[in-house]
Amino acid sequence: MKSTFKFLVTLAFIITIILGQHLKDVEIEVKVNDLLHQMTFAEKVGQMTQFSGTNKRYEQMIREGKIGSLLNVIGAEENNRLQKIAVEESRLGIPLVIGLDVIHGYRTIFPIPLAASASWDTVLIRKAAEIAAKEAASAGIHWTFAPMVDIARDARWGRIAEGAGEDPFLGSAMARAQVLGFQGKSLADPLTLLACGKHFVAYGGAEGGRDYNTVDISERTLREIYLPLFKAAVDAGVGTLMSAFNEIGGVPASANQFTLQTILKGEWGFDGFVVSDWNSIGELVAHGIAKDRLEAGVKGLTAGVDMDMEGRCYTIDMEALVADGTLSEELINDAVRRILRIKFKLGLFEHPYIDESIQKELILHQDHIQTALELARESIVLLKNKRDILPLNRKELNTIALIGPLADDKDAPLGTWRCQGKQEDVVTVYEGLKNKLGDEVKIIYAKGCDVKNNSRTEFNKAIKVVRKADIVVMVMGESADMSGEAASRADLSLPGVQAELLNAIAETNKPVVLVLMNGRPLTLSNVESKVTAIVEAWHLGIQHGNAVADVLVGDYNPSGKLTATFPRSVGQIPIYYNHKNSGRPNNPSDKFTSKYIDLPSSPLYPFGYGLSYTKFKYSDIKVLNNRLLSSDELVVSVNVKNVGKRDGDEVVQLYIRDMVGSVTRPVKELKGFQRVALEAGEQKTVQFRVPVQELRFYDSDMKYTVEPGDFSVMIGGNSVEGLTANFKVISLK
Ligand code: BGC
Repeated sequence: MKSTFKFLVTLAFIITIILGQHLKDVEIEVKVNDLLHQMTFAEKVGQMTQFSGTNKRYEQMIREGKIGSLLNVIGAEENNRLQKIAVEESRLGIPLVIGLDVIHGYRTIFPIPLAASASWDTVLIRKAAEIAAKEAASAGIHWTFAPMVDIARDARWGRIAEGAGEDPFLGSAMARAQVLGFQGKSLADPLTLLACGKHFVAYGGAEGGRDYNTVDISERTLREIYLPLFKAAVDAGVGTLMSAFNEIGGVPASANQFTLQTILKGEWGFDGFVVSDWNSIGELVAHGIAKDRLEAGVKGLTAGVDMDMEGRCYTIDMEALVADGTLSEELINDAVRRILRIKFKLGLFEHPYIDESIQKELILHQDHIQTALELARESIVLLKNKRDILPLNRKELNTIALIGPLADDKDAPLGTWRCQGKQEDVVTVYEGLKNKLGDEVKIIYAKGCDVKNNSRTEFNKAIKVVRKADIVVMVMGESADMSGEAASRADLSLPGVQAELLNAIAETNKPVVLVLMNGRPLTLSNVESKVTAIVEAWHLGIQHGNAVADVLVGDYNPSGKLTATFPRSVGQIPIYYNHKNSGRPNNPSDKFTSKYIDLPSSPLYPFGYGLSYTKFKYSDIKVLNNRLLSSDELVVSVNVKNVGKRDGDEVVQLYIRDMVGSVTRPVKELKGFQRVALEAGEQKTVQFRVPVQELRFYDSDMKYTVEPGDFSVMIGGNSVEGLTANFKVISLK
């Protein structure tokens, strides 16, 4: 009785919330339409226009209702000042929506997204996005151009740094976490940000990994690999998406009616708005599908790009095209409605200004720095640890030689898109180790060489330092500008003469711990065998050095797992774990199978891989019910035991293979993961529930379905090793 009452009260509560939301939505639609009716053509295209920065001319345009959005304006005071012009001096007083690339923090800089994804910790990633939103919003920003939800299967592409790697399932979880983090419970909360899933779509599929390059993929790959992350963002309520620079099979993404109208706004019913990437509509001219900006504008608009970022293609000249029937005004009205709807949802009409006093207490708040440290630690991936050389034995060590161009570098940890991050906030590895070890262990530092230039003049000094030490810690990799936008690389080995320095130091026969800092998977085959341990530390943000020091001395037991495959050589790219089998799967003893004659087909480090200072043993995989209907859930469990001497976290991963389909299926696909904390000696039973619907794919008729048949499920600590079991999906027919 009591529980029925409780249930009814809860139901009534939920209905009230849904009704309340519905009423609010209806109210917003009325306001949007009311405003739209009062707008001139120029004011409409004004709402669809976004410019970067400001000047007197832009201010006049805001006054005339010819700019609806700005990006890259910094500071609460400046943002309020410009907003005041829009609200108090323009005819209709429509507020601006102000955007900025708040990618991995505003001033408190977190690990770059690729690094953060290696934590597989959606809770912490959501918290980091929440903090980034708070800090940015307190500086008058309403909108971030994040998360980047592009799949990247090619480490040459510099923007792999900005996303969650190669997997659609993990990427979708990260997309959801970030959207929920940025947007919070309500967009109207002044300390949240409107999020933007980018770059729609398939931008990471660039041929040769060269930024902005041609993409040519099948509709199946588009739908199964690239689109799911955007769908996850849309389902999580993302308010905006950004249309990409690339073409997809002949049609540029910013003029693509199929992806924008048919899929996004049609199939998915997306009611937010789409902003172009920087001049991506203008670039339709260079793509060769428009003769001038006006035609480019018509193509972008017709495809469903609602706001033009810095393209100057949505112009008053379009009015003539509407008058002669070339362009439908309804398209323009739809775009304006979408933009106004979001502005109302953001509460900008009621509260256009930010309280300038709150930034002081929020920016770099101690709790934010603590979260940055936690996420930085969890992002670190231990790639190699021969003879358990790590953690460093601080009781027995007298002297550490700290070598390398990034060991005391305050810039690289900020990574690409560092927003308002400042070098003065950064803790380097050198500082982190000194903070940790004080006078207990002597640290002698020598830079040895630069990241990029080829000077060897400092080699000898570094070697001399090494001779005085018990162990060498080398901090090497890429500077911040070597990944991110327009930073594709053809060679993924350590840049400059770093590998040479490493070889010279290895010849001293001192044990070498290599700490890597980079924005992408590197090819490490030529250095891997020379070092005793490898710590993948990426660009970890302002707490970089403290997090690395915690791992090096064992105050934190590393738990990160790779989210992008590390190839042995650039020649293996694209390389990703969820590949197809082919008709001649790799067989080392049969020449006529799919492989290279000069290199194994396997990667150096696979997706999902990462070591710990303890060991985890998997046993007893059990499938609860191995005959499932498509409406069922697969329930599968495994025992995971910490068989080492230290407490640690393990990211337990579940992969599924559909054995026979009407079209070929990947050799495995991630369908579940859990981060599990285990004390030394402790065992836990980890259970996964995977809805059979999660196994859908596009069949030979492009129908999204689960086909009955045999499946195998593997659970383990990476994408290669694990325990397997089988199950069947049956049909009732
Ligand atoms: C990038 C986007 C970014 C935009 C605005 C473009 O060059 O591709 O990711 O959001 O600039 O800064």
